[in-house]
Amino acid sequence: MTLTVDRRYRLVYKPLLFIACLIPLGWALGGVLALGGLLPSMPLFDLGADPVRKVLGIVGKTTLNLLLITLAVTPLRQLTGNGYLIRLRRMLGVFAFFYACLHFMVYLGPFQGFSWDAITKDIVKRPYITLGFTALLMLVPLAITSTNGWMRRLKKRWQKLHRLIYPIAILGVWHYWWQVKQDIREPLIYATILAVLLGWRLWRWQQRRAATLKSAPPTARERT
Ligand code: HEM
Repeated sequence: MTLTVDRRYRLVYKPLLFIACLIPLGWALGGVLALGGLLPSMPLFDLGADPVRKVLGIVGKTTLNLLLITLAVTPLRQLTGNGYLIRLRRMLGVFAFFYACLHFMVYLGPFQGFSWDAITKDIVKRPYITLGFTALLMLVPLAITSTNGWMRRLKKRWQKLHRLIYPIAILGVWHYWWQVKQDIREPLIYATILAVLLGWRLWRWQQRRAATLKSAPPTARERT
């Protein structure tokens, strides 16, 4: 039995992507369970000397990875001509929000022990925390309006609103960069990937603009 592309996306690729997006959660949970003695300890689930920071790192990196993968969908679609890829974008974006919330919850609870005083001070006084928090707040309207209903209701404004993903990704990379003390190699890799993804859009936009200008009728001044 051969499946149509449409059904292949619905019945195979989307469920596979869903499972793939849950892997980092499984990894972090496995670590926590192994720490509590509920799972046999094994190297994969070893959270090291600072388990809370390790879990915070796993979910933080997953948020950033998913944001960049979400941003890679459009260039990939344009390069391959595969319009179906767009169907995977919403799930990637919603999972990015899910992991950002998880990251924040680990920060609030295990990391800061729900000390609201320390948390408020941190958000206000530590620039990298301020950046992360701003990115999280900006993700909220995107997550709320990610449904078909909101897409229909907002029409053209939906696309404009969802361009917030660009500053969010910049803030995410910046948040990571600012907390690294010495070895900036990893944040540099993230920043380079982000620059390529945003640069691609800028280049395409310039090309479209040049094409529109070329095809536009000459103005009165140009005619004389
Ligand atoms: C879109 C939002 C966010 C993204 C993409 C993000 C991403 C990241 C990344 C990639 C790391 C580094 C992980 C590692 O070193 O392995 C990190 C660490 C961290 N993030 Fe976030 N984050 C976000 C939001 C937040 C928020 C809202 C807070 C708290 C208010 C926060 C607090 C922290 C802290 C405390 C660390 C650990 C720093 C350390 O190890 O000293 N992040 N985050």
